[in-house]
Amino acid sequence: MADSNPFAAATASPRPRLEQVKELESRVLLRTYDRIPLLAVEGKGPWLYDAEGRRYLDFLAGIAVNALGYAHPRITRVLREQGRRLLHLSNLYYHDYQGQLAERLARLAGMERAFFANSGAEAVEAAIKIARLHGRAIAPEKIELVALENSFHGRTCGALSITGQAKYREPYQPLLPGVRLAPFNDAEGLRAVVSDRTCAIFIESIQGEGGVYPAEPDFLQLAAELTRRHRALLVIDEIQCGLGRTGQWFAYQAAGIEPDLVTAAKPIAAGFPLSCLLARGPAAELFHPGMHGTTFGGGPLACRLALEFLDIVEQDGLLENVRAMGALLREGLENIVRRNAMASAVRGQGLILALQLDRPARPVVDQARQMGLLLNATHESVVRLLPPYIIEPRHVRLALKTLSRALRTVQREQKQLP
Ligand SMILES: Cc1ncc(COP(=O)(O)O)c(C=O)c1O
Repeated sequence: MADSNPFAAATASPRPRLEQVKELESRVLLRTYDRIPLLAVEGKGPWLYDAEGRRYLDFLAGIAVNALGYAHPRITRVLREQGRRLLHLSNLYYHDYQGQLAERLARLAGMERAFFANSGAEAVEAAIKIARLHGRAIAPEKIELVALENSFHGRTCGALSITGQAKYREPYQPLLPGVRLAPFNDAEGLRAVVSDRTCAIFIESIQGEGGVYPAEPDFLQLAAELTRRHRALLVIDEIQCGLGRTGQWFAYQAAGIEPDLVTAAKPIAAGFPLSCLLARGPAAELFHPGMHGTTFGGGPLACRLALEFLDIVEQDGLLENVRAMGALLREGLENIVRRNAMASAVRGQGLILALQLDRPARPVVDQARQMGLLLNATHESVVRLLPPYIIEPRHVRLALKTLSRALRTVQREQKQLP
């Protein structure tokens, strides 16, 4: 029995205490994160447990990573089995799983080839490099990268260069030259910046960090048309919304477009770091040996986990579940909008949803956490929900009830302030 529980050792040892961990981290870590006071020790399904034994319904799922919830038995079995055989290899040799995974993902996305890396930002970097190779092969001045205002593509310097939010970019200027930002979902604005100098347009199908704003199908179709007209590449970033989160494998598929490059990452290996860049047509032929690579990307464990993730989603009908639970959650959020003056709109698709508030979302998210529900505040006044694909109606009902209570509590407390 103990063997089937990967957390058995952690739970048997004396539980670490939040204050000690905080104090240690404050001395030894670079100050990149402003953590929430929750010391997690284990998880099971959609539930996360802290060091005091409190249980949280996790509707953030590691920011869209833990799509199968915690400690999925099929994932822990692959971890154990592959852990005994081959964890890492390097990309100097072949192993059984990278090709299989590339073929599966390419088929699901309507693409042809894949490159595997470790983080979303790295997949975006690979796309930027292909975009530049593509442009320079046509004309030396064809190097402009068109991206959208309010976008988020990651924290590496290339990905930051095409991130349309000044707060992330400003401290690191100068970044990559030749980036042009266009307003989101604005056809005229996009037409105004795309030209023969453009080598690629980068679009998130749903702007996740930016507050869960879906790109309109018309806007995606226009971007596709402009890239064809100007011989540029269309790059779709589905790192947050891809691989099932909207109830389809990829959100752009609903718009009927055929991108040249697609990035995906978060849920792909069920919590283990892995990302990929999928490519099609001439864009899939531009890298040659030695032009790009990464030590860890696409190792045997990561790829096996990703194959298992895809099998589970297919065999357990999780895309259907995402659509059904997404509809239920959305309906409940819309009820909240009707009943609570603090909430003004619901955005998103499937299980990437947002509740727009008229005030900072952080106090609501903090209150919900104290009541046992994990959510996220993004873009100041947005409550973002990214639950795992495995949730059931009872989890949705509990989340909605808790969120309503959190909203009412914050409203009451803020009214009482002088
Ligand atoms: C759309 C999108 N692109 C890129 C990234 C960067 O991914 P990572 O943090 O794994 O580098 C993110 C992360 O949230 C994202 O949402």
